[in-house]
Amino acid sequence: MRILFCANGTKAAPWVGALRPALPAATVDEWQPGAPQADYAVVWSPPQQFLDEQPRLKGVFNIGAGVDALMKLALPPEAIVVRIDDGGMAVQMAEFVCHALIRHFRELDGYQQDIAAGKWSYRKPRSRADFPVGIMGLGVLGLRVAQAVQHFEFPVLAWSRTAKTVPGVRCFTGSEQFDDFLAATRVLVCLLPLTSETQNIMNTRSLSRLMPGGYVINVARGGHLVEEDLVALLDSGHLAGAALDVFRAEPLPPGHVFLRHPKITVTPHTSARTLRDETITQIAGKILAFERGEPIAGVVDRQRGY
Ligand code: NAP
Ligand code: GLV
Repeated sequence: MRILFCANGTKAAPWVGALRPALPAATVDEWQPGAPQADYAVVWSPPQQFLDEQPRLKGVFNIGAGVDALMKLALPPEAIVVRIDDGGMAVQMAEFVCHALIRHFRELDGYQQDIAAGKWSYRKPRSRADFPVGIMGLGVLGLRVAQAVQHFEFPVLAWSRTAKTVPGVRCFTGSEQFDDFLAATRVLVCLLPLTSETQNIMNTRSLSRLMPGGYVINVARGGHLVEEDLVALLDSGHLAGAALDVFRAEPLPPGHVFLRHPKITVTPHTSARTLRDETITQIAGKILAFERGEPIAGVVDRQRGY
């Protein structure tokens, strides 16, 4: 079995070095143009040339959860496309979202500013009941985030494409229930895949339907958010703030409004990082299971785009 590694922006040597012992019967190499035909590819945002040169791939394994970059490419028609299914990302996402939520709810930035200004003052405690958290996307990451937020006793709502039942979570489904979901949400968390149906989903129309004083946590993709619509709603006072981890252009260009807006907190696409060891263990296990003809989790539905 031959495996090629081709991941834009990622040092290949440690990955190739760890894939080899995980799949000792396979030949594993970093892709170079003109490389011999492989059976499987381990990738992140590869160039089209790589896929064009490898038409007989049986499987393309993405080293992240989101496959939006991959879905823009012409892939070998017969190859399965497989995304990382948790692999240590869900707990990271849960801690990141809970941190952003609690920092906002407990007004920790305000306290920090007060202390810096020499003020030792108290704000009136706020009620969790007034801060329902609505999670868009109830998949691998959204479900873990919903469960983590529940521990802090916030009301939790979630919205997905197909119907779900999760104890303690008020579940909404499809476009017909989207507005009801938004109207009942104060803190909106985006954990959707970026697809033709979800791009620009956070815009003036949707964000203005949130409860007054709404807060936006975008940890999915920058393409979900219409940036100028968010800024207008923050400036009008309808929204109280936003914690943004993902952007249309990454890194954010110097001078971008998000970098200096007082109601926006920016992090550099770090809410849930790919963990190399967990990811390699998962991919190696799936390749071997697929070779044995067994079903594997995380196979992307190319029609759906996630
Ligand atoms: P997932 O398991 O595929 O879950 C996606 C969820 O979104 C599912 O619940 C799905 O509904 C729902 N959904 C998809 N299209 C929808 C639509 N049109 N309307 C309503 N709901 C829709 O994905 P995941 O592993 O949780 O990851 C989610 C995304 O997080 C990834 O695609 C990636 O872009 C992003 N991410 C970001 C970071 C970071 O560091 N910032 C790290 C990892 C992942 P169904 O359940 O009904 O199918
Ligand atoms: C990171 O953004 C991922 O999709 O895994």
